[in-house]
Amino acid sequence: MMNSTDNELLTRIEPGTPMGAMLREYWVPACRSSRLEADGAPEKVRLFGENFVAFRATDGRVGFMQEACPHRCVSLALARNEDNGLRCLFHGWKFSVEGKCVDAPTEPRAQRARFAESVPVRSHPVHEAGGLVWVYMGAQDSPPRFPDYEFTLLPDSHVQPYRGVIRTNWLQGLEALLDSAHVTFLHSANLMSERGRNYFKDESDYMLGDGAPVFEFDERPYGFREGAIREEGETRLYARVREVVLPFFSFIPSAPRGPRIVCCSIPIDDVTTAQWYIAYDTDAPLSPDLFGAFGMWSGDPDHFNSDMGGPEDLWKQDRQAMAEGHWSGITGRGNAYEDFAVQESMGPIVDRSREYLGTCDRVIYRARKQLLEAVKRHRDTGELSFAGPDIDYPSIRAVSYPYPRDTDWRDVDPYDLREAAE
Ligand code: FES
Ligand SMILES: [Fe+2]
Repeated sequence: MMNSTDNELLTRIEPGTPMGAMLREYWVPACRSSRLEADGAPEKVRLFGENFVAFRATDGRVGFMQEACPHRCVSLALARNEDNGLRCLFHGWKFSVEGKCVDAPTEPRAQRARFAESVPVRSHPVHEAGGLVWVYMGAQDSPPRFPDYEFTLLPDSHVQPYRGVIRTNWLQGLEALLDSAHVTFLHSANLMSERGRNYFKDESDYMLGDGAPVFEFDERPYGFREGAIREEGETRLYARVREVVLPFFSFIPSAPRGPRIVCCSIPIDDVTTAQWYIAYDTDAPLSPDLFGAFGMWSGDPDHFNSDMGGPEDLWKQDRQAMAEGHWSGITGRGNAYEDFAVQESMGPIVDRSREYLGTCDRVIYRARKQLLEAVKRHRDTGELSFAGPDIDYPSIRAVSYPYPRDTDWRDVDPYDLREAAE
């Protein structure tokens, strides 16, 4: 059970909040890289309750700055994007990729350059990788090391980011990404369907077969690994090992080879969240439209759940389908729609003092505890958790594998084991 003070501390992320200050210290995805064309339309981006625009300049570099023009607050989403900068439509002031005012043509010529230099512009450093534009919005003068996860090192053909948008707080989004216990229930119809079998392959049998796996943990400097252990015959067990990179990322376990998915829950504001699903394959290009192939989305990669409905229509739940055997009645698409419906149904910011947790919630409890410790530490000392020079980001990979019953999953190299069995 959590008291409401801690609940507020964990969930509120808009300017001036301790969690907002901490979360801004990590690089976060802002938008897909392919949204931005050189000299093309600026992209509106809302993050942590503030509004920005991202734009690609003539020379291909990306700028990220406040949406409101520093002069009189006209939206720079309307701006002209030309000659390596954004020029506001209203009075023609111009801003560079570096976030400097470089021209203020309404000012007297003699003092124009000096005046332009004096204009305060809020902009933030960006980094492009894994098909995404990432931004650092923190308070440090120079950005921290970029987390070079393996998907950020792949060519574009091997990575496909999809953004879902949910009308809930970021922590509800994160918790859903960590919760392994729900899969057997909420997603059972998808797991049993042809789509599910194709997508999850032999994973679905394990998940359907045992709704109460044993959860074991392995501490890591970036968070933890969670092993969901299920029976596999007399001599073997089966581990699904999730990698949790706090505060945002959950790497979803899948077979040692083939496409995989990492998800993250990035705050748009206190009550709206971007749920990124990033598909990638280290060994081969992905099929051009992975989500489309499984009918898992609306067709819009920047809002892939735009057609999922909401509380007003109970997320289009189909009672007839339920009577005919579909578990959730949320039938149109894949697992994400079912996840989003249950998350939104809790309300924009769930009151965690009203919950009653069970053994299956150990992962949720652990993540909350670590986040609470981290936000207090950052608020009180300025020190940042889940980061540091020793973290080997490219080696973080979530794998599912069978292993001998008399072994600890933490000691098993799934690649050795698979290759030995083949
Ligand atoms: S409001 Fe943008 S230049 Fe005046
Ligand atoms: Fe789910």
